[in-house]
Amino acid sequence: MSTNTTPTPWTNPLRDPQDKRLPRIAGPSGMVIFGVTGDLARRKLLPAIYDLANRGLLPPGFSLVGYGRRKWSKSDFEKYVREAAEAGARTEFRENVWERLAEGMEFVSGNFDDDAAFDNLADTLKNLDKTRGTAGNWAFYLSIPPDSFAAVCHQLERSGMAESSEEAWRRVIIEKPFGHDLESAHELNRLVNGVFPESSVFRIDHYLGKETVQNILALRFANQLFEPLWNSNYVDHVQITMAEDIGLGGRAGYYDGIGAARDVIQNHLIQLLALVAMEEPISFTPEQLQAEKIKILSATKPRYPLAETTARGQYSAGWQGSEYVQGLREEEGFNPESTTETFAACTLEITSRRWAGVPFYLRTGKRLGRRVTEIAVVFKDAPHQPFTDDMTASLGQNAIVIRVQPDEGVIIRFGSKVPGSAMEVRDVNMDFSYSESFTEESPEAYERLILDALLDESSLFPTNKEVELSWRILDPILESWESSQPEEYPAGTWGPKSADDMLSRNGHTWRRP
Ligand code: BG6
Repeated sequence: MSTNTTPTPWTNPLRDPQDKRLPRIAGPSGMVIFGVTGDLARRKLLPAIYDLANRGLLPPGFSLVGYGRRKWSKSDFEKYVREAAEAGARTEFRENVWERLAEGMEFVSGNFDDDAAFDNLADTLKNLDKTRGTAGNWAFYLSIPPDSFAAVCHQLERSGMAESSEEAWRRVIIEKPFGHDLESAHELNRLVNGVFPESSVFRIDHYLGKETVQNILALRFANQLFEPLWNSNYVDHVQITMAEDIGLGGRAGYYDGIGAARDVIQNHLIQLLALVAMEEPISFTPEQLQAEKIKILSATKPRYPLAETTARGQYSAGWQGSEYVQGLREEEGFNPESTTETFAACTLEITSRRWAGVPFYLRTGKRLGRRVTEIAVVFKDAPHQPFTDDMTASLGQNAIVIRVQPDEGVIIRFGSKVPGSAMEVRDVNMDFSYSESFTEESPEAYERLILDALLDESSLFPTNKEVELSWRILDPILESWESSQPEEYPAGTWGPKSADDMLSRNGHTWRRP
């Protein structure tokens, strides 16, 4: 129990606990971050924790413990977190919120194989349980390379920190990459599940924390309008694009040897595919949602022959807008001989009545024309066209486009008569935009996911089964690429020619988002 006697947000009598519109507030708890000095923690995790505190969604005694090699004092750590929060937080920086958060911060210095340092960490947590009322409830955030998971999990087990009890929970939050292929993912899951039961493991796929991604379920299942058309009778193909304009700047160490398919397709894009293609779950409990995702992923496989249905590329120097940027091989820290791809595309298909014969095209890349993530469900042509060819020369295929980012929203693209005395039909967009329709601001994905992990709400976290199924889909593609070189594409373009060929063979073209 909390020793803090001031009213806490989670006992605030002015909040109606039945009001489902209010975000739930985490109960007494704390978090330990491994890899706290890394890029992800500094840019995303620490600002998200500050934002949650600022929104009153963390318990007042919330405690944050950093673990790392640096010989930092509590005040060094506080200073570092403060800088990260000031630079990256979404909400206003408020001294009173900061002071309360900072009171519960500690830093423990040590390596991952250092028994004494982990014993020191265990003592620190016990102490915080007493002084801050964290009640023994701790989440361990592993923002570290997967080859260090074994050492940290072993230490957490050895020092007794991994074990939940009737009174207190222990959870582990894991960052991708979850392995390198199916075999290594399986091994990693075995290792983590050997220490933490699956119900205490929260694997982060930050795309699932995005509002627009969660809206896929609302769009499909809360409306009558779309679902009757959402099948192979009407849908011609689906394009899922995650394009970035940035290069690898500073991330060479992580990215070299991983590449675009492992970095983005295995997790974010295959999860988007699952949400777009799955059947309606009988309820939105984590178990039901995960059951439907597992079903659809089990039915998903690459289309063959892979030489024609996949594409990979590496960016070379080029114009990104008005800036001339270097190619990958010239970037600092990158091995100039590297064959790691910065662009990957593949064609998947789903063996089910709903999706028989419908290609799902997935693509992702760095240094592309612009930053955009979208899902385009492209419809077949009308079965009969009463207009002549010259009247419909500018008519494309109807499409529903879910814009994940930026300009979050949904576009419906269809043909409309051009004003004038002639009958000419041209494509137009009907556009729903979040920023115009709602005044509420979307929380950052990491805010939502960290809060959900503290609340034991696991709907938005992929299970071990989902992760392994995604690798099963991707493995044959990765193997087929082993003996080939990625094709070059100039920075600022939309990827290699082979990606265009991949679609044109089926009479399709990529949307220019
Ligand atoms: C990460 C990838 O998962 O997602 C990065 O590792 C990528 O390579 C990032 O840049 C993109 O995330 P977002 O939310 O900016 O689309």
